[in-house]
Amino acid sequence: MRILSGMRPTGRFHLGNYLGAAKNWVELQSKYECFYFVADYHALTTEPDGHKAEDNVFDLTADLISVGIDPKRSVLYLQSKVPEVAELFLLLSMVTPLSWVLRTPTFKDMAKQHPDNVNLGLLSYPILQGADILMVKGSGVPVGKDQLAHLELVREVTRKFNRTYAPVFPEPRALLTETNLIKGTDGKQRMSKTVGNIIGVTDEPEVIRKQVLSMVTDVKRPRKTDPGHPRSCNVCAYYKLLFDDWEHYWELCRKAQIGCFDKKKLLAERLIEMFLPFREVRAELSPELVTRILDEGSERARNVARQTLRETRQAVGLPPYLDR
Ligand code: TRP
Repeated sequence: MRILSGMRPTGRFHLGNYLGAAKNWVELQSKYECFYFVADYHALTTEPDGHKAEDNVFDLTADLISVGIDPKRSVLYLQSKVPEVAELFLLLSMVTPLSWVLRTPTFKDMAKQHPDNVNLGLLSYPILQGADILMVKGSGVPVGKDQLAHLELVREVTRKFNRTYAPVFPEPRALLTETNLIKGTDGKQRMSKTVGNIIGVTDEPEVIRKQVLSMVTDVKRPRKTDPGHPRSCNVCAYYKLLFDDWEHYWELCRKAQIGCFDKKKLLAERLIEMFLPFREVRAELSPELVTRILDEGSERARNVARQTLRETRQAVGLPPYLDR
């Protein structure tokens, strides 16, 4: 099985990115051939100025390497350095009925969030995603729940392509990350840079401390001496997700033997300690090294992409692919 997944370079890498995706990516490396990439074309759907994403591309790549994506074992690349994906996207779009993309729930959400920039790229976003996957003939796609609708659409388009022309592509399937979508520091929404409720991973300890201490806790516990309600407390949810001894702290909380603030302080210190090895790797990565890794990975991805385009163009009935 070949694995493929990508992430958009839209802001600081956070705990939701790590637990909801990257951690799984790292584990898959020991079993499968993996392709991971920074989706800078996709980022243009919401920020048309590519210059603004430059720092984010470096940061995201460095963060992925820091948390354990190994460029020697996996192909780590930059989407726009493999422009073949754009041609494959074009060919896929020809067999995609408009009604299929119009009903995508994420498109409707995005159109609501950015009413002044509802572009065609936003509508075809999942088809570009399909081109990413099919370009390397990926069959396992590790993603969070929020991406399931896209994957379903990609599967339909794959079947349609294979039916229309020739069985060129394996039908990819989602490998769901087990972690539930964790809520951000507001305790309400999924962690997201735009909402501003994130907890960093490779950030400086002071940053993480500040973010964790800002977390909304048990609202039904006005005083420290009142018993807490771990089941409905976001901080306690983190304990359960991350720590083996979570039950001990849930019990202390129920008995009012630990306050919300102390629980947050401890959470912050433990997270900082957990992420220390990541920060150490991160400190060693220069922009030059990261660029080289991306260049090499992109060249490897391109070799696969060229071969796929040869087959695809032939199946569709176009002149042979010219290597550029
Ligand atoms: N849409 C994904 C996200 O926002 C990123 C992505 C782009 C992706 N292309 C992909 C994920 C292909 C999996 C496969 O997280």
